[in-house]
Amino acid sequence: MNKYQARLLDRASKNLLRQLPKFDWQTDFYSNDYLGFARNKGLIEQIKAESQQYANQQIGATGSRLLSGNNRYVEKVETAIATFHQVPAALLFNSGFAANVGLLSCIADKEDTLIMDELIHASLIDGARLSKAKRVRFKHNDLGDLAQKLATIEGNKIVVVESIYSMDGDICPLKEVADVCKKYQAQLIVDEAHGIGVLGDNGAGLVSQLGLNQEVMATVVTFGKAMGGHGAAILGPQWLKDYLVNFSRSFIFTTGPSLHQLATIFCSYQLLPQANQARQQLQTIINYLDTKKKESPFTWLPSKTQIQAVLIPGNEFVMQAAEQLQANGIAAMGIRYPSVAKGAERIRICLHAYNTVEEVDYLMEQLALIAKQELALVG
Ligand SMILES: Cc1ncc(COP(=O)(O)O)c(C=O)c1O
Repeated sequence: MNKYQARLLDRASKNLLRQLPKFDWQTDFYSNDYLGFARNKGLIEQIKAESQQYANQQIGATGSRLLSGNNRYVEKVETAIATFHQVPAALLFNSGFAANVGLLSCIADKEDTLIMDELIHASLIDGARLSKAKRVRFKHNDLGDLAQKLATIEGNKIVVVESIYSMDGDICPLKEVADVCKKYQAQLIVDEAHGIGVLGDNGAGLVSQLGLNQEVMATVVTFGKAMGGHGAAILGPQWLKDYLVNFSRSFIFTTGPSLHQLATIFCSYQLLPQANQARQQLQTIINYLDTKKKESPFTWLPSKTQIQAVLIPGNEFVMQAAEQLQANGIAAMGIRYPSVAKGAERIRICLHAYNTVEEVDYLMEQLALIAKQELALVG
């Protein structure tokens, strides 16, 4: 056995082994396709037609954007994104992960401090690690703790938050965070991975909803969740785009987006203003689950968004519960420690415009059965 296999074995013995899931479950409570864009037949047809217009061009970018990978179409898509979000500039990245790593690693250097909510996504943590900046965590969504940390830090300060947190599903008090940042002369970065499509007019996100475009230095929007595709963009002033083009390594040293990816992003943006009904359906199912939570034997996190979490403490218990749901046709995933705090292991429930009241009822029934079995085990 080599050391890598030994590490895998060690993980498995601690109930922490990651494995690629199966695909034959029926009820989707796990994907990030909140508005059903990824399966929207009309959108799929539009993407085909859009790509067809450029069919005589190359299918791939053929190089990085700074070499052979720039073209009129990619610039058109970036202009459309910037126009939609009413910001001066947008720069595309191959994924949200690449955008966050590329942004944080170059935006802060050793004189600077990154002050980050303790629940921010791994990609932001990795980007911060790659920068030379000092790193400080503040308590999740805790304005008092943020202000206290900012008051003691010298030099350039950059605060990093998400609009909707990916594991807890709660919303950042962004207006108040922006006010605190202003008071302590800190810059603000917002990851809207789970906010875009869902929050704000036409799904433009929380920054736009609160009119904070001027206050936020950089907003990261990703296209793999409510937008149904893949990729990301960083929104902000023109100087930020110029700076990223010069210093962001995950932008510079990678192949530009393919024709299909660009067409998908372009068409998804066109669909966003027409998705009010899907947003309404999503809100209805969120409200329905919210009423049902009160009858549940488990503790739920107090989220009011499409991301919900049922606490089932203990890695072993939570994975058993997830397996039981899956065996009954429900696609929902267990999230273990250390991805979340010890004791806060959970089943993450993602809601979608296409989930039905019957599906939520079925989920609740299955959870109630699991709770009964656990009681029997403990008793
Ligand atoms: C908050 C947050 N930011 C960034 C990402 C990464 O985005 P992508 O999947 O486009 O790489 C994710 C995805 O899980 C996320 O939840």
